Amino acid sequence: MQEKKISLQPEYINAVKKYTEAYGVAHARAPRAFVQTFGCQQNEADSERLAGLAKSMGYELTDTPESAQLIIVNTCAVREHAEKKTLSVIGQYKHIKAEDPELIIAVCGCMVGQEHRRNELKMRYPYVDFTFPPASPQMLPKLLSERLAGGRRVFVPGEERPPICEDIPVHRESKHRAWVSVMYGCNNFCTYCIVPYVRGRERSRAPEDIIAEVRGLAEAGVRDITLLGQNVNSYGKNTDFDCDFSTLLRRVSEVDGDFRLRFMTSHPKDATFALIDAIAECDKVAKHLHLPVQSGSDRILERMNRHYSVESYMEKLDYLRARVPDAAVTSDIIVGFPGETEEDFLATLDILRRARYDRIFSFIYSPRRGTPAAEMEDQIAGEVKSERFARLIELQNEITLEKNRELVGKTFRVLCDGVSRTNEKYLEGRTEHDRIVIFEGEGIAIGDTVELEITKADTFNLFGKILEK
Ligand code: 5AD
Ligand code: SF4
Repeated sequence: MQEKKISLQPEYINAVKKYTEAYGVAHARAPRAFVQTFGCQQNEADSERLAGLAKSMGYELTDTPESAQLIIVNTCAVREHAEKKTLSVIGQYKHIKAEDPELIIAVCGCMVGQEHRRNELKMRYPYVDFTFPPASPQMLPKLLSERLAGGRRVFVPGEERPPICEDIPVHRESKHRAWVSVMYGCNNFCTYCIVPYVRGRERSRAPEDIIAEVRGLAEAGVRDITLLGQNVNSYGKNTDFDCDFSTLLRRVSEVDGDFRLRFMTSHPKDATFALIDAIAECDKVAKHLHLPVQSGSDRILERMNRHYSVESYMEKLDYLRARVPDAAVTSDIIVGFPGETEEDFLATLDILRRARYDRIFSFIYSPRRGTPAAEMEDQIAGEVKSERFARLIELQNEITLEKNRELVGKTFRVLCDGVSRTNEKYLEGRTEHDRIVIFEGEGIAIGDTVELEITKADTFNLFGKILEK
């Protein structure tokens, strides 16, 4: 199947431009847009498009909501905590709108893919002007121009198969790092997850469009490119082009240029040996696999609708370790899924010991309205979830420390990201395994690659010294 493609509609961009130009004349400066992002990399990538659209309509970007004439909040709905935080931030914008009634507040992203949240914003946040669903950033110019022209507030629901829009301008946050979406949406319906309900069914971009984007980035000097999708291993399924994800990875890695190629996320049921072969054989592909296991108990995996067993998961991991012995592996873990017994939880601790992940992203199960797991009767008490969560982190910290110490004395090529977030006297950068290394680096600029020897390691940090520039 060929996905429905749409183009930007210039009439709406031009309508907003008329407003921004008039604003510029009246205020002797352009109006400003503030784009605020919660959640995952897909949202970060979408926000770069929203910022690109805002610029193309005549806005300047700003870092402070108080100075903005347009605020766009790009929200997340994966856990309740993210939603609560977002709603409280939107709540604070009431005061800014009171000062400047011309301010437009738009909300997009996964939170407003849910009907009950759209209704909540409509009824209880009267200063929110409009919402549009995740996966449809191209709706911004139309909704904004209509609202600026005095149109009513609108709260647009998502579609099952939103069209793909290839010509949205992108404002990239970084000059040396970039996201490239290869597919959108998800068909998996893991029983805990809200994503398939708010982002619609899987849609793959055409390989030519992806390759053209990567080529442009490589030519612009971008050094680190991450291919994004909710489940990249479903790439190309049910399409009329004959290209699965491992083939796409090989084709993209053949693009000329000095860049590292990453990808996420891989669903273990769809990760193939061919994918692992591509990681092993393509020089540009980073030796890192993010392979979220979620639980170490087959019983819980089944209730999660994950379609793999611990043994089939470990088989893939063993193959990776045989093919790429120094590969880094990371995972997502959920603790306290409904019905999780102490025995199930011990099985999760056990898979941590077997897999020896470099790092995990761990989450306390958060019931999401409308998902099957939220309706399951055997929900786990809050204190049990917290206690298991603490034990999980403790074990992973031990493993990470052991693994980090094994790296002392080894050398890595590191792409400098900027000033260290832990100590501003130092710089930090990332290895191809996505490990962050802190180092002293006078004269090193963001985007430079340096050769570092690891000199010290603790649970949370690796320290290195420069060998050559
Ligand atoms: N509760 C807790 N964690 C969740 N995740 C997704 N949905 C939930 C939920 N309802 C986690 C999964 C997923 C990661 C992005 O977020 O581990 O891989
Ligand atoms: Fe959610 Fe599962 Fe889809 Fe990932 S694969 S987005 S966890 S439903």
